[in-house]
Amino acid sequence: MEIVPLETAEQVAVLAADVLETAVRSRGDAVLGLATGSTPLPTYRELVRRHEAGSGPSYDGVRCFTLDEYIGLPAGHPESYRATIARELTDALGIPAERVHGPDPAPDGLPTAGERYEAALERAGGVDVQVLGIGSDGHLAFNEPGSSLGSRTRIKTLTEETRRDNARFFGSVEDVPRHVLTQGLGTILRARHLLLLVTGPGKAAALSAAVEGPLTASCPASVLQLHPHVTVLADASATGALERRAHYREVYDAKPAWQGF
Ligand code: F6R
Repeated sequence: MEIVPLETAEQVAVLAADVLETAVRSRGDAVLGLATGSTPLPTYRELVRRHEAGSGPSYDGVRCFTLDEYIGLPAGHPESYRATIARELTDALGIPAERVHGPDPAPDGLPTAGERYEAALERAGGVDVQVLGIGSDGHLAFNEPGSSLGSRTRIKTLTEETRRDNARFFGSVEDVPRHVLTQGLGTILRARHLLLLVTGPGKAAALSAAVEGPLTASCPASVLQLHPHVTVLADASATGALERRAHYREVYDAKPAWQGF
């Protein structure tokens, strides 16, 4: 696992955008795995800025898969993850809706939605780069503490902590759906490169538990320790609780330019 302690959230966004653009440049039909939430937004804005400035790669063949989706919102609800990712990223990059996939929360199909999403991911050949955020309780996608480390896409119930964290998007905690469809931890582990973005002091404890604590379902993000290719980009406030922070920075400072991420 490569942990890169940076100073600011802007630096995180610039490096993350570099990683995603490199993947798209090296494979025109790259499959990008996209997280929603606040953390990746500066990265998505950076990608859009570069695209509009004409310096980004072509997204003509790129396919996208979101990590998760709320259950119970009316179709087209602005806080649904499908609407959010279109608004924040894929529309601006010119990626048409039919190449942006998400778990299907339509009530009639719920019993098979997980299975169908797994099949769609497999048909696409798997995810090349998966953008991830981390919850303050250590969740990854919407795999809350206690989730099976081998889980696949399925329905989960959000914790009170996550619903309170996400109330800022809905106005009140009562309006945050209780149920979601989420890629499982085992699903996420199948992506070829995991790119975890962590910013803000509220994530410091979760990050340290995930990368320096034990591998445990009590901290779902600790499953990253099992993956052979993980890059963690974090700002100074998020790395405050890392015991080996100075070492990670030393490694990054000595990183050969040819190595990339
Ligand atoms: C979003 C997702 C969640 C968020 C996490 C952090 O698709 O899967 O795991 O990444 O809740 O959210 P923010 O970035 O809003 O702090």
